[in-house]
Amino acid sequence: MSDQSEQSVEGNEQPTYLDWNNSIDVMDKAIEKGLFVLIIGPKGTGKTSLVREYARQKSKELESINFSLRTRESHLIGTKNLIDGNTGFDEGILVKSMKEGNILYLDEINAAEADVLLRLDEALDDRRQIVLKESDGKTIKAKDTWFVVATINPLTHVGTKELPPQLLSRFPIRIKLDYPPEDVEYKIIKKYVKNPNESDVLHGIKLANTLRQASAVEELYYSPSIRETIAYAKLLEGGTPAKQSAKIVFGNVYSQWGNVEFQKVNDIIVSMFGN
Ligand SMILES: Nc1ncnc2c1ncn2[C@@H]1O[C@H](COP(=O)(O)OP(=O)(O)O)[C@@H](O)[C@H]1O
Ligand SMILES: [Mg+2]
Repeated sequence: MSDQSEQSVEGNEQPTYLDWNNSIDVMDKAIEKGLFVLIIGPKGTGKTSLVREYARQKSKELESINFSLRTRESHLIGTKNLIDGNTGFDEGILVKSMKEGNILYLDEINAAEADVLLRLDEALDDRRQIVLKESDGKTIKAKDTWFVVATINPLTHVGTKELPPQLLSRFPIRIKLDYPPEDVEYKIIKKYVKNPNESDVLHGIKLANTLRQASAVEELYYSPSIRETIAYAKLLEGGTPAKQSAKIVFGNVYSQWGNVEFQKVNDIIVSMFGN
């Protein structure tokens, strides 16, 4: 859906994924050997975009689930239903994707509760099958084409836990997706913003990288994503001056952690963009 709205804003040209660290190739090798993939990286580094692009290129259906503490086993497995006195079974996303042999995208898998992870582990082991205690002990075996890609955020993220080693080993192909180098981020932004002022945009990327580095060493509470550098460039394109755009997109958000945090970032913006 979000792809569509971006498309309509930019006209008829669909923004495409820039595969700057050859992740598509790694995924190709994984799928070929029937190995599952784990993508590791902070929010907003293009993990979801990469998987969507991969499914699009392979013309494969994509089933996605975004894990949180509220995700239950039933979301994965399914639930019994009762229609006109007959019991049936509404398949959850895991069962469905195994039977159809499409791509299953497990987003932020390390936000899930232990019981949910345990159930996933059953399906992901080498037999690629799961026993449905919810549906008369029926065994579901995955099609050969079944492919699973999971993402985890670095452990500094609120609400994320360490993935149990056993489950980690189900995803032996690991792609590390961090914030891109400056020139690459500029190229990504150019996919969304027609005629950005290069030096203003680069200035914003520099600011974002300064904040990202400060956040990585826990000097700040928040790390701006690529989504935010794109938004900054869109403000520029709409005529908002660079410094004001920087405050709106990168600065103001820090006030939620109090005035000291906000002032710290404001000082950085002033030092980079002038008074
Ligand atoms: N390599 C890339 N090519 C094109 N757009 C990208 C790329 N990386 C990130 N983006 C854009 O940045 C934003 C955040 O990406 P997203 O895939 O949602 O990140 P994540 O899933 O890691 O949080 C989206 O608007 C996405 O379109
Ligand atoms: Mg995502």
